[in-house]
Amino acid sequence: MCGIVGHLGPQNSVELVLEGLQRLEYRGYDSAGVSFIDDQGNLQNFKKSGKLENLKAHLGAGPFVARSCIGHTRWATHGEVNDTNSHPHSNELLSMVHNGIIENAPTLKNELQAEGFEFKSQTDTEVFLGLMTVNLKKGLNFKQAIVESFKKVEGNSAFVLLDPVTTDIYAIKRCAPLVCGINAVQSEVFASSDPYALAGLVDKLYFPEDEVICHLSSGNKNLLNFYDLNLEKTKKYKSKNQDLSASVSEKGDYDHFMHKEIHEQPELIRSLTHYYFAGEGVPSLEKAISKKPENIHLVACGTAFYAGLVIKDHIEKLNRIRCYAELGSEFRYKDPILEKNDLGLFISQSGETADTLAAQSLCKTNGLSTMSIVNVEGSTLFRDCDDNLLIRAGIEVGVASTKAFTQQVLTGMIYSAALNGILENGEKKKDMAAKFSLLAERVDKILAEEKIIEDVAKEIHIHKGYFYTGRGIYFPIALEGALKLKEIAYVHAEGYASGELKHGPIALIDDSMVNVALVGPELYDKTISNIQEIKARKGIIVTIGPRGDEHLKEISDYYIELDFDGLDELSPIYVNVVNQLLAYYIARCKGTDIDKPRNLAKSVTVE
Ligand code: G6P
Repeated sequence: MCGIVGHLGPQNSVELVLEGLQRLEYRGYDSAGVSFIDDQGNLQNFKKSGKLENLKAHLGAGPFVARSCIGHTRWATHGEVNDTNSHPHSNELLSMVHNGIIENAPTLKNELQAEGFEFKSQTDTEVFLGLMTVNLKKGLNFKQAIVESFKKVEGNSAFVLLDPVTTDIYAIKRCAPLVCGINAVQSEVFASSDPYALAGLVDKLYFPEDEVICHLSSGNKNLLNFYDLNLEKTKKYKSKNQDLSASVSEKGDYDHFMHKEIHEQPELIRSLTHYYFAGEGVPSLEKAISKKPENIHLVACGTAFYAGLVIKDHIEKLNRIRCYAELGSEFRYKDPILEKNDLGLFISQSGETADTLAAQSLCKTNGLSTMSIVNVEGSTLFRDCDDNLLIRAGIEVGVASTKAFTQQVLTGMIYSAALNGILENGEKKKDMAAKFSLLAERVDKILAEEKIIEDVAKEIHIHKGYFYTGRGIYFPIALEGALKLKEIAYVHAEGYASGELKHGPIALIDDSMVNVALVGPELYDKTISNIQEIKARKGIIVTIGPRGDEHLKEISDYYIELDFDGLDELSPIYVNVVNQLLAYYIARCKGTDIDKPRNLAKSVTVE
């Protein structure tokens, strides 16, 4: 979703902010803009709908040199996609960018209009510009104006503001991602919505708490100061060394980040195996299992939710602990039954998904212990949970999540096994590690043979609809497979439990519908009868099934063979890699923007 980058320092701010925004493109956006103080001391504001390239073309007459700049990529929530609604919003007193939603914007807008403030855009953001303007005109200084304006807005937001008088930058947030960073050698200071934008540019990151004003200042020997809402200096922030390399943003030999990330999976599985199984024990895992929960509420969104379904199954079968898998957007409003000995378990790649964070906060308020299975260390979810298990997937740039799913499921299974004491038993631990290694090998093999999947994609991409079907442990994989295809190929795809097709969806089956049937060793016979039902109605059958199964091959139009032996409960992850590749190659045939699919955002930071 929206991305923010601000910079203050001796190097050219405009270039650095544009570079940061480029790194945030992966989050999804529909317009972009920058505000800066030019070498004549004038506030400049450039914004354009569409991709960053449009903004760069608009800036074209440059090169603009500035020592202070804020920039934004917008993912429209209030008001259509156009230049006027793009950020920054500015006037002669300030310029500002915003992530999130101002929930009481309509009321504040009426009040500001009554005071004579004229709105130019349809955005909720401009309300904050209005509040700041009115407060500055009353004679408040910039920081005081921020305090008074911020106190009036409701909802989750991050604001970054540029003061044209001092050229200083200010940032403040409530339940929205915000990070500042310092490059001590270059005397430079940054603010952003995502540490990834600052990779390789700063040595230290600072994560402010809610309602902390971050003051990025050039005229001060401390480049970065933090204040509370009484304007007293505060230490309400966490800091950490910045260890991301700038090279993570490169695609290497791949055409798309998604393809690169699919191919990273075997190595990531190996490194996760090493991390959790090689030594004497991982402290975060040991702490996480020190309490055995009565029930577990697994909450997540999108792909992470489907990972949650696989994990739920594993924990219930192995530990006989009841797990409820819930969507973040539903959980927060359903008045869930939460007991104090229950665990809230949140799964997220970004650790910034608004609905997942709200669910975590609800569990915490109800006295539950909370734990994350998360990729981004230092994210809001990571900071707010009592326990965290890192999935160690590295940065995932492709909007359609791939490697994060695999790592989430495996990390969840490790937690489940640890709860059961398996990791304390040398033999069992070794067996489990060996199974993980076998999975890495099998994934390697399927990646080496991906041409087979590409060929199937070339044959089937012309069809109008796709049903992904599976039973038991393959059902969540059917859901995830269909989601992947929808996201990047823009075709209708649905995941179904095979046995459910005849309760309605089978009415849609004809010779233009494809059934991607996932057939592993579990519930094998049952799944085959379901395929026959589709075949009888002339549906096109693509089966992902066991190697050498002649009967299945015969009833399928296309057959992708896998070696399931020895993988047991890990086989859904293996099947899922095929689904990822199938979606990828179908999308390639359709020529869509695979890494940045239309309307989608990598990190959904609004409700
Ligand atoms: C967005 C992304 C999905 C992701 C979901 C949850 O919709 O496009 O790929 O699965 O958010 O994100 P999270 O960061 O919490 O895993």
